[in-house]
Amino acid sequence: MAVQTELDPVADLIAEAKRVLPGGSFGNLPAEVVIRAGKAAHVWDEHGKEYVDFLLGSGPMFIGHGHPEVTAAVESQLPHGSTYFGNNRHGIALARAIVDAVPCAEQVRFVCTGTEADLYAMRAVRAFRRRDKILKFEGGYHGMSDYALMSMAPKNPGNFPRAIPDSAGIPKSVRDEMLIAAFNDVDMVESLIKEHKDELAGVIVEPFQRLLPPQPGFLQALRRITKEHDIPLIFDEVVTGFRFAYGGAQEYYGVTPDVCTLGKIVGGGYALAAIAGRADIMAHFDRLAMADEDFLFQVGTLSGNPIASIAGLATLEVLKRPGAYEQVFATGRELKAALGDILSKAGIKATVVGEPPLFDVVFTDQPIKDYRDTLKGDKAIATKFNKLLRERGIMKGESKYYVSLAHTRADIDQTIGAWTEAAAELKKG
Ligand SMILES: Cc1ncc(COP(=O)(O)O)c(C=O)c1O
Repeated sequence: MAVQTELDPVADLIAEAKRVLPGGSFGNLPAEVVIRAGKAAHVWDEHGKEYVDFLLGSGPMFIGHGHPEVTAAVESQLPHGSTYFGNNRHGIALARAIVDAVPCAEQVRFVCTGTEADLYAMRAVRAFRRRDKILKFEGGYHGMSDYALMSMAPKNPGNFPRAIPDSAGIPKSVRDEMLIAAFNDVDMVESLIKEHKDELAGVIVEPFQRLLPPQPGFLQALRRITKEHDIPLIFDEVVTGFRFAYGGAQEYYGVTPDVCTLGKIVGGGYALAAIAGRADIMAHFDRLAMADEDFLFQVGTLSGNPIASIAGLATLEVLKRPGAYEQVFATGRELKAALGDILSKAGIKATVVGEPPLFDVVFTDQPIKDYRDTLKGDKAIATKFNKLLRERGIMKGESKYYVSLAHTRADIDQTIGAWTEAAAELKKG
């Protein structure tokens, strides 16, 4: 007799993913999470389960999924083609909007991902300074290039920050080109820069490193020290750009770098990122302005394509409206405070870290100022908490709550309810 198997199309989809994708996934989330749709601050998985979304596509969907104005803008361009390789009016308008918004931006070069933007920003300061070494911070994430993947998440960091590759396949020689300092440690950065100033091309930093705010005076000191030695300072604003303020973290914290990188929000959920900065550094991208040995060769098939550009422009239009940032910050402040309160009332050792538009909890009661401090957090509890939340209709990644303009009163209430239940479950052990 034939055995009857129940049809489960989602199980089939997951099995198919496991067959054709390494690890069964695109590399970002587990194979079991298959998302079908997103609208405003909600997503639905392939089972039809609805979630309040704090993943937001890992940040770009700051005004919500499928925003009607972004959709209309993209639809207006679609009949005219999706990419030309050459300049187009929407890309030029977006570059203009970036120059108007971002304090350090005098000129802009478009690419498609934050990884590329960071790679070229580092290359641009190397070309400008005619030096090779870049200083980055332990725990700082600047995409997936060989250079960026030095001590982004070292498992055994040793006694002192140093360049440790985060991935297989990175040439050993790359270690020698990167200097590593501890975030928020002015003395360490100052002594490293003084010692290596003659070989340093630049310093790259996330002004808000993953979840860690800069301590008061840290970014100002970084600016002062780099300026003293004429070393370009790069802010990686792939996450913070247009999130912390319309002018990014540089506006929010009041420190202007020489170059910054943008991604995520600036492309409105489409593939677009940018390097923006001082005209004399950006000039290295200009074949006509540079001698051969100073010219930074850079092209990209989809760079500045009109679909992503018009989506970015429509997103910025929404963000420019009065009250947009006030609303995101009010939502974030309420959520952050509630999360801390719920965990503290439940007697769980936890510290909520971050700024209102981007935060998470680290399960430790120790102070957290740099990467090593984050390792003190109990990862197993964090994973369990996230799982309990997902079961209760809250979608987030392993770390980070991305807050959006689309989160509503009902979303906040649902999230607080889920946190309360999940904390009670954690307490049971
Ligand atoms: C600070 C930072 N820089 C760079 C990147 C890389 O961007 P992408 O994933 O677009 O390559 C990310 C991605 O999350 C990021 O958070």
